[in-house]
Amino acid sequence: MSKLFVDACFGKETPYTPVWMMRQAGRYLPEYMAVRAEAGNFLNLCHDPKKAAEVTIQPLDIVGVDAAILFSDILVIPDEMGMDLSFVKGEGPRFSDPITNEADLDRLIGAEAAASKLTYVYDTIALLRQQLDARDDDIALIGFTGAPWTLATYMIEGQGTKTYNICKKMMYSNPKLLHKILAKVTDVVKRYMEKQIQSGVDVVQIFDSWAAAIEPELYDEFSWQYMVEIAEYLKEKYPHIPVIMFPKGIPAFLDRVYGNFDVFGVDWSTPMELAKEKLGAKYVLQGNMEPCRLYSQEKTTEAIKHIHNVMGGKRHIFNLGHGILPDVPVDNAIHFVRECQRISKH
Ligand code: CP3
Repeated sequence: MSKLFVDACFGKETPYTPVWMMRQAGRYLPEYMAVRAEAGNFLNLCHDPKKAAEVTIQPLDIVGVDAAILFSDILVIPDEMGMDLSFVKGEGPRFSDPITNEADLDRLIGAEAAASKLTYVYDTIALLRQQLDARDDDIALIGFTGAPWTLATYMIEGQGTKTYNICKKMMYSNPKLLHKILAKVTDVVKRYMEKQIQSGVDVVQIFDSWAAAIEPELYDEFSWQYMVEIAEYLKEKYPHIPVIMFPKGIPAFLDRVYGNFDVFGVDWSTPMELAKEKLGAKYVLQGNMEPCRLYSQEKTTEAIKHIHNVMGGKRHIFNLGHGILPDVPVDNAIHFVRECQRISKH
């Protein structure tokens, strides 16, 4: 039986427009907090296939979304390439040994070796495959990666950044080194995504969360071309697996979007009308409610009606325009999902 979500990714008609939420397995759910506490910390949770599978399933049962997204993090990739990842309480991710020169990069392991170390991710997927297949709701499993550019920002800055000044210094003064980093990460990601597919994911999404840090003129050179390289590698070998691209905050680049992939994720700062006009004929669109509308059920319903009117229930997947925040009431997340399903039903 084909899955509703996979059908929608390929632009087929579905009884209603499916919905999921970026960061749907996470801190707004008390049930997630309980499992994280059992694991001790976030990284332990990522490394524990049984617990990671458990929190992946939670939003299906609690919130009622139409797709599951593998519980993990984009930063396990550089971690397994040999960088030292930790999560500092209240501050987010840290690498103690950021890349500053070619020798730092050369110390990191490459494609096959790094991708082979992410066994806990593949074990989580295999477990989820069994658990999802045993249900009768035909829920698809989404695997994911960070885009090489978004991963590189953490590898170079050593942490999250508001200014990206260290990366940008490299971009404008030593672009050759930045490209070398991006190419090495791209090779790892291609094999990593392939192994996720072989382990049982139905769909993959590439998150370029920090796309907006690059000036539009240079976005293709430093990010998009690498995302397309990954997508096209996967589409060639696994044409039945939909690929979703999510470059956050690049409305000025919409005219120049190209590549063989299936779904374009629209962030909340890009009007759906504009995305539909520029890309709707070529790609299925995913998105894009501003996640902070989740603080008000009334404003949530208003946005869903608007997005649904623009898309007309065709070639569309409902989602937020970025991740759900930890202080959103669970009832409001449930309201979002039910309203998307109700309003789009035909
Ligand atoms: O979407 C899901 O539910 C699946 C799980 C998932 C996580 N991270 C779990 C997580 C996914 C898809 C990600 C992707 C991710 N990780 C991105 C791209 C998506 C985006 O939101 O833009 C990025 C940039 C990261 C890096 C990262 N991981 C940061 C910056 C942080 C800390 C910031 C924060 O929100 O606290 C994380 C930690 C993280 N990843 C958490 C979760 C549930 C919170 C950790 C915790 O439980 O303490």
